[in-house]
Amino acid sequence: MARIKTAVLFSGRGSNLQALIDAAAKTDFPAEIIQVISNVPGAGGLVRATTAGIPTKTIDHRSFKRRTAFEEALNAELLDAGIELICLAGFMRLLTRTFVDRWHNRIINIHPSLLPSYKGLRTHERVLEDGVRFSGCTVHFVGAELDAGPIIMQAVVPVKADDNPAILAARVLRAEHLCYPSALRLVAEGKARVVGSKVELTNISTPEPILINPEVGLPNKSGKAASP
Ligand code: GRF
Repeated sequence: MARIKTAVLFSGRGSNLQALIDAAAKTDFPAEIIQVISNVPGAGGLVRATTAGIPTKTIDHRSFKRRTAFEEALNAELLDAGIELICLAGFMRLLTRTFVDRWHNRIINIHPSLLPSYKGLRTHERVLEDGVRFSGCTVHFVGAELDAGPIIMQAVVPVKADDNPAILAARVLRAEHLCYPSALRLVAEGKARVVGSKVELTNISTPEPILINPEVGLPNKSGKAASP
């Protein structure tokens, strides 16, 4: 089986990078991480990749006068490594339309909210301010707009009464670590393909339960509604 040659781009601690490295360490995983690139010198995730024996590169965006020059360097590195698919994992740089078009439907990203809600930064703070009962994460193909593009997979977590942003972020992050490798698997296997503005899934099962938060006072905790 030819494994999809994948690069992970990141800027920070790299816990999602680690989840992807761990999944792809299995030889039957359909994607192989062959390049890890940080735009931040000394970012924590670099050690994770090195430990796993994956080549790393730091391309510091601050050493380029223009965003396009930074992206040219990035693009050259990816082409040089023979990359077929890019995973953004906490990569804190906006990509221009030119770059996104070059890698059309070959860049995926994880965002710590249920998109299209809560795009951008401070997601957990805003979720708590709004008092919504569920949050989660989204893996999506990258479009030219911020945190937009066809959705591949989402995971839902409850928001609890005594949450603060750090507690909620940790719960969402656990979901991210499950979701991102699964979504990458789907893409690499060709089971999640962009058709128009959406992702079409092949041979996929969908969960049945209805989730209600808070759970108190439900007539039937099994989640079964009364017959119509
Ligand atoms: C994650 O919450 C991810 O969803 C967001 O940035 C964070 C990166 O965390 N895009 P890590 O570096 O993967 O630990």
